Amino acid sequence: AKDMADGLEKVLVTEERIKARLEELAAEIDADYAGRDLLLVGVLKGAVMVMADLARRLHHPCEMDWMAVSSYGAGTTSSGVVRILKDLDADISGRNVLIVEDVIDSGLTLSWLVGNLRSRGPESVEICTMVRKPLALDIELDVKYVGFDLPNEFIVGYGLDYAEKYRNLPFIGTLAPHMYQR
Ligand code: PRP
Ligand code: MN
Ligand code: MG
Repeated sequence: AKDMADGLEKVLVTEERIKARLEELAAEIDADYAGRDLLLVGVLKGAVMVMADLARRLHHPCEMDWMAVSSYGAGTTSSGVVRILKDLDADISGRNVLIVEDVIDSGLTLSWLVGNLRSRGPESVEICTMVRKPLALDIELDVKYVGFDLPNEFIVGYGLDYAEKYRNLPFIGTLAPHMYQR
């Protein structure tokens, strides 16, 4: 029978570790934003899981909004040129914005997004990501909240997809090489 974990090599971060880390991140965010307004901005579609799980662990009141962005071109690596497929509903001027992401890989998507959101006059813009990959350390990007720094492997699950699949895995795993080598 086809299992939902078909095509995976190994589990890299278990559901339990993800939950424990989310508790820690939520506590940090609660403390950091005490007495301040908070608008969570999720980047579709990968951020759906972390947004839902993080937001439910916050005691701080917050709002949630969403953006969908896409890199230009059909290359396999991000070009850094991004277009907005769905913009925020909210006006963020004067707001404290916390961008929520599943993964920062090259960092190009977020570099562009942070610049774009800063130009709208918010009070602050910070980043929370469940996973950061090593390439993102080479780019000038301040990431305030990081779930896990993971090696440069092909990872899926907990929002991260391969050809739109595996997002619903409750853990983060690596894809078996035969899945993408042909
Ligand atoms: C993935 C991921 C991040 C971005 C990271 O999104 O969810 O948003 O790429 O890549 P970068 O740091 O190299 O820019 P993707 O564009 O695959 O869309 P998705 O969230 O719908 O999967
Ligand atoms: Mn994404
Ligand atoms: Mg993707």
